[in-house]
Amino acid sequence: MTPELGVCYYPEHWPEAMWAEDADLMVKSGLSWVRIGEFAWSRLEPAPSALLFDWLDRAIETLGAAGLKVVLGTPTATPPRWMLDKHPEMLAVDAQGQPRKFGSRRHYCFSHQGYIAESARIARIMGERYGRNPHVAAWQIDNEYGCHDTTVSYSQSALHAFQHWLAVQYGTVEALNAAWGNVFWSMEYGSFDQIDLPNLTVTEPNPAHVLAFRRFSSDQVVAFNRAQVDVLRPLTDAPLLHNYMGRVLDFDHFEVGADLDIATWDSYPIGFLSDRLEADEAHKTAFLQQGDPDMQAFHHDLYRAVGRGRWWVMEQQPGPVNWAPYNPAPLPGMVRLWSLEAVAHGAEVVSYFRWRQAPFGQEQMHAGLFTPANIPAPALAEARETAHDLAELGAVTQQQAQVAILFDYASDWAWTAQPQGAGFNYFRLVFSAYRALRRAGLSVDFASATDNAVAGYKLILAPGLATLDGDLERRLTEGCDLAILGPRSGAITHDFQIPATGRPGLSELDCDVDLVETLPPNVQRNVDGGGAAHHWIDRLSGTAPDLLTFTDGTPALKGANGLWYLAGFPDEALWDRVIAMAAQEVGLNLHPLPAGLRRRETEQHVFLINYNAIPVTWNGQEIDACDVVIAKKDAPEEG
Ligand code: GAL
Repeated sequence: MTPELGVCYYPEHWPEAMWAEDADLMVKSGLSWVRIGEFAWSRLEPAPSALLFDWLDRAIETLGAAGLKVVLGTPTATPPRWMLDKHPEMLAVDAQGQPRKFGSRRHYCFSHQGYIAESARIARIMGERYGRNPHVAAWQIDNEYGCHDTTVSYSQSALHAFQHWLAVQYGTVEALNAAWGNVFWSMEYGSFDQIDLPNLTVTEPNPAHVLAFRRFSSDQVVAFNRAQVDVLRPLTDAPLLHNYMGRVLDFDHFEVGADLDIATWDSYPIGFLSDRLEADEAHKTAFLQQGDPDMQAFHHDLYRAVGRGRWWVMEQQPGPVNWAPYNPAPLPGMVRLWSLEAVAHGAEVVSYFRWRQAPFGQEQMHAGLFTPANIPAPALAEARETAHDLAELGAVTQQQAQVAILFDYASDWAWTAQPQGAGFNYFRLVFSAYRALRRAGLSVDFASATDNAVAGYKLILAPGLATLDGDLERRLTEGCDLAILGPRSGAITHDFQIPATGRPGLSELDCDVDLVETLPPNVQRNVDGGGAAHHWIDRLSGTAPDLLTFTDGTPALKGANGLWYLAGFPDEALWDRVIAMAAQEVGLNLHPLPAGLRRRETEQHVFLINYNAIPVTWNGQEIDACDVVIAKKDAPEEG
């Protein structure tokens, strides 16, 4: 597949007289796709049932006539003000019991039946009008589920839906009491309608209650999305997609993705570095204007799995954003680098956010490809350059990597419900594993922990998986030559109890966890021969061989027969050792890389991506600052 470029455009923000010229310029800039409509509800239906679609008809026609393919968004992330008069209870409620009011976006509760019906209604109106329109080549449902902490709501609608969900899950309240261990602190219930949402309790609520609520909340997102999918499917043959966010783990993206055709996500590398990544100041300074070298790739690889191989970048940062604590500009070359990196990971489309910077509203300080005065912004030239690169590159085909990471959203909910140690965080642990694989120059696939088809890997990492059953253990050992679990893997049952018969998954190994310790950030446990563990330590026992030990003689890594268990949250040096040992065990070629340089292999190419602000030499090859070198595979790769 030959990758393409696109852009996000808001015709409702600009005089109609500008549309044709904008469309023409998009095409001349090498863009093939344009996404519109996702926040336009107040202009499509200014009053209940007063539909005003003529302008959108003309916008689609103008963009399509210029040769662009339109992604049409359903506008359900921004219900208009009148919707609240019609459905006063539709707002989400925060953990303090306060409604999250009108005046920005995503102001709805996923459990409000009235709003779900309104969303399906507007999706139907749009599907009936544009489902067979030749210019509408894809549909985006809603916008960034979960962004701005909007998955979880403590509303009355959520309460009633949760009680119903629990009754379906557990059948009887006695079964629920037993599963949650409600005998503890006399928390037993006599009926499902006595069960409240787990907020505003005196001290911490039962983690089983919290985990059930988080599973429920994720299911509500899946159901909300499905209501629009069900309406649109019969009305169009165009693919349905959603644009996910970075490091939003509050709902199961694999489950939403199962109802859609393509996964897309919104990549804001510089915003993410300062806004949502644990890293020391030196790292944040070194990559201030480039973004973290692994954060984008992590999401590219994760969402490739969510999209079952089909994925796009729907919004690519083009310049300073408005929403991070500090908003520096990308270094020259970075917009092109991010775009080509996405392509290396299999993006079918990279679409820039947005065509022209808005002169009004919350995002007036957010760059686009043009300034509000319609002067080209620096990113435009880089988008054009990328279009030339893509024309030269031709097809880019993904191949299965030799290494995979199992990812499990519910593990994040579980560990958030009971962190046990302040530094322990599921994303952080998995991301540290991903980084280690990438430092070793490996291409990485992700898979859902519930995916039955995971097979053919040399190595699978499954750090921090909350629940592990015998079936997963079997699939892991059959699906790869070596699986590495731990730390904190298989530590709880589905209902948040400590497994009665030790950690499942480790039975084959004769290895168990006798004691768990968590450590403050300034303390670490050193491993004999180098590296250390921090945040979390599982004290291991059993006859399985010790592959690494801490300096106090306790096991740091145990394993045999294709299954290893890591006792602690590894620092970088320990991860590097473990990956090197694993590579040796299963015959995996590593390509150790200097800081900030990353490598990605496709069927046809090897991409070398330099996130550093200075040139880097690797294997005799110099890669300029903020540049990408692409080698055709039939030319032998140096090194
Ligand atoms: C995304 C969102 C866009 C815009 C953008 C700004 O999260 O989908 O609508 O707000 O961020 O960076």
